[in-house]
Amino acid sequence: MKISFDAKSPKSDAFVAFAVEGGKLLEPGKWADKKMSGALKRAIEAEKFEAKKAQTLVVPGPAGMPHSHVVIVGLGKPEDLKEQDFEKLGGTVVSVLNGRKAGSADVAFRTDGIKLKGLDPRHAAARMATGALLSAYRFDKYLTKEPKDKKPTLKSLSFTVDDPARVKKIFSDEKIAAESVYLVRDLVSEAPNVLYPESFAAIIRKELSPFGVDVTVLGAREIEKKGMGALMAVGQGSAREPKLVTMEYRGAGKKDPVVCFVGKGVTFDTGGISIKPGPGMEEMKWDMAGAAVVTGLLRTLAAREAKVNAVGVVALAENMPSGTACRPGDIVETMSGQTVEILNTDAEGRLILCDALWYAQEEFRPTHIVDLATLTGAMIIALGHEYAGVFSNDSAFVKELVAAGKHVGEELWRMPLNDAWDKAIDSPAADMKNISGGRDAGSAIGAHFLKRFIQDGVKWAHLDIAGVAWSNKDRTSVPKGASAFGMRLLDRYVAENWEK
Ligand code: BES
Ligand code: MN
Ligand code: ZN
Repeated sequence: MKISFDAKSPKSDAFVAFAVEGGKLLEPGKWADKKMSGALKRAIEAEKFEAKKAQTLVVPGPAGMPHSHVVIVGLGKPEDLKEQDFEKLGGTVVSVLNGRKAGSADVAFRTDGIKLKGLDPRHAAARMATGALLSAYRFDKYLTKEPKDKKPTLKSLSFTVDDPARVKKIFSDEKIAAESVYLVRDLVSEAPNVLYPESFAAIIRKELSPFGVDVTVLGAREIEKKGMGALMAVGQGSAREPKLVTMEYRGAGKKDPVVCFVGKGVTFDTGGISIKPGPGMEEMKWDMAGAAVVTGLLRTLAAREAKVNAVGVVALAENMPSGTACRPGDIVETMSGQTVEILNTDAEGRLILCDALWYAQEEFRPTHIVDLATLTGAMIIALGHEYAGVFSNDSAFVKELVAAGKHVGEELWRMPLNDAWDKAIDSPAADMKNISGGRDAGSAIGAHFLKRFIQDGVKWAHLDIAGVAWSNKDRTSVPKGASAFGMRLLDRYVAENWEK
């Protein structure tokens, strides 16, 4: 969708104006009402339209009106609006107009009649455009027979604002992030016969190299040579070899600290020899969402020339059962030198991540490290689909991440760590086992496994995104399907904590 900002309303099919609670039209709406001889006010009364937040009223333009539709969007009480709400308003405009016969729309956001509290109207306008873009995403590349009337109609959206140059400037970074969200969603939605470690690595190279990100791809031989026995074990059952991809972006000084982002990229998780039940197994195509988010994040940071040294590391593997697959009972040596007894081949995320985490710390010596993984089904039991869980060894770090998440509508909830859960993964046969063997605190057990691979002094946060990587219903800025949860959160986290 094309987005533009103007000082004067350009020609458009639909005209979007705002009203505040009680159904009171703001200036652009009053103009339209006059043009329509009072038809808008009549419609507001007849429909008992109260203009509550994100409530909409669509009125077809009568003869003589240059617009096919006038859409009134409710602001509720403007002084209650947060920036995040404007994202929702932008998405609302898109969903109301798509499916109607309108190829273009102009959103008249004149702010003279609106009293916003603690909010710059120019940021509000940019955020509306972001919400419009994010909510317009679709994964439709394989729909060869979709009827025309099912296809979205809205092609371009203009915003009439007081200071278009400034809003455009604010939006330019948000647009980069939104485009990266599209990339993440494309990756996560892609079919697992098309997206596997090698093709994933090739996409990373193609998408990120143009922005000056240094992309390195290690294949099975190099992974083996580096001693990453856990990553190898997960990949060895598949005909597709595992890959470890690093994305290095240096936007700050040579001597400045480094932050690492590590992603779980299981391109398909059958469970391996500890095979998963059949129903719903297709969902495990999105078991690479963590790696996709890391990819999108590095694209965003590089494209907007963020002043940070950031490195992405993703471990890519396909977890398959076969004659060469690892077995329950296998003992492997990780790159850290610690040994792991694999008791359940379906607890594979922690196995690929422990080597990726160690590699990232050895290679890049970060002060902070964040990992993202669709790690445990237990996370969904604990927090459902409204929050991702965050486990961390540093409270200040958690605070920064939680605040960033709030701002973009990707909410985190801190989960506890406890020495008892660390003990639960001691093994009589190796340094540790990859499951506890019980059902207690499943997500924390996974976190504690990873924690054993965090070096002294490194601030670490583990985001278990199992419940939020895929949305089973349409949400604000997230149409049903891949969400890209974490991408904008971490972009915001970097902007607020590394670039100021
Ligand atoms: N990828 C799954 C976790 C998952 C399950 C994510 C459902 C999203 C939806 C992970 O690899 C896994 O299988 N975890 C096991 C761990 C168990 C064997 C300790 C699980 O959660 O059942
Ligand atoms: Mn699994
Ligand atoms: Zn998995």
